[in-house]
Amino acid sequence: MLFHICDWLEHNRWIIGLSRSVTLSVILSVTHYFSFFCVVGSIMIVDLRVLGVLGRRKKVAELAEELLPWMWMGLLFVILSGFLIFAGDATAFYASRVFHVKLMLLLLAIALSVITQISALRWDRSPAMPVLAKLMALVSLVLWVGVILAAVETPDPYLSPTIAQMKSGSSVQKASGYSPSLQVGRWASKTNVSAP
Ligand code: HEM
Repeated sequence: MLFHICDWLEHNRWIIGLSRSVTLSVILSVTHYFSFFCVVGSIMIVDLRVLGVLGRRKKVAELAEELLPWMWMGLLFVILSGFLIFAGDATAFYASRVFHVKLMLLLLAIALSVITQISALRWDRSPAMPVLAKLMALVSLVLWVGVILAAVETPDPYLSPTIAQMKSGSSVQKASGYSPSLQVGRWASKTNVSAP
């Protein structure tokens, strides 16, 4: 079911047009990078404040109020741009375990950020930063680093044979008729390079 949605997405003419346009692909990548800097940067500053590493002159709630709107705005753009990059090669990303790990870590990290935002005022009122708050901040930092590492480890469907290897023999391959040579052809058509 999910595979068919991915397949439909990948063959949607708007998505094909978008992923074949070099200019739009670059704009999407730049948007993805810039917005994830906003997301990860702002939440990391709040987490480090909770840990007492920086910005101790400001209250956590004050810092969160200043920075977290940047995080939510960045998140909107990172999800939009990420989804559009994903859509161009949806079946390949669907088959990538590392990509699944990235999304799972992302969900957990977002959940922790929501809890931080809700709890900041209460934490400020207690005489010392609660241990649980510090623990959550630490876990949040680890999760965000994990999201970035998983993103970097996600094989590029057009440049890496890894996804082809992962797909071979899987039910996805049978359902999609996927073949590495077809992928090379698609990569070639996308980049105007003649396929071997
Ligand atoms: C704040 C959250 C996110 C962070 C920190 C993040 C980080 C990154 C990074 C660093 C890359 C570049 C990897 C590389 O060039 O090797 C990337 C690529 C990508 N991201 Fe995200 N991302 C986030 C959210 C999302 C979301 C929500 C989606 C999907 C809905 C998504 C989909 C993608 C896709 C499809 C790629 C291209 C992977 C490739 O071609 O290798 N990302 N992301």
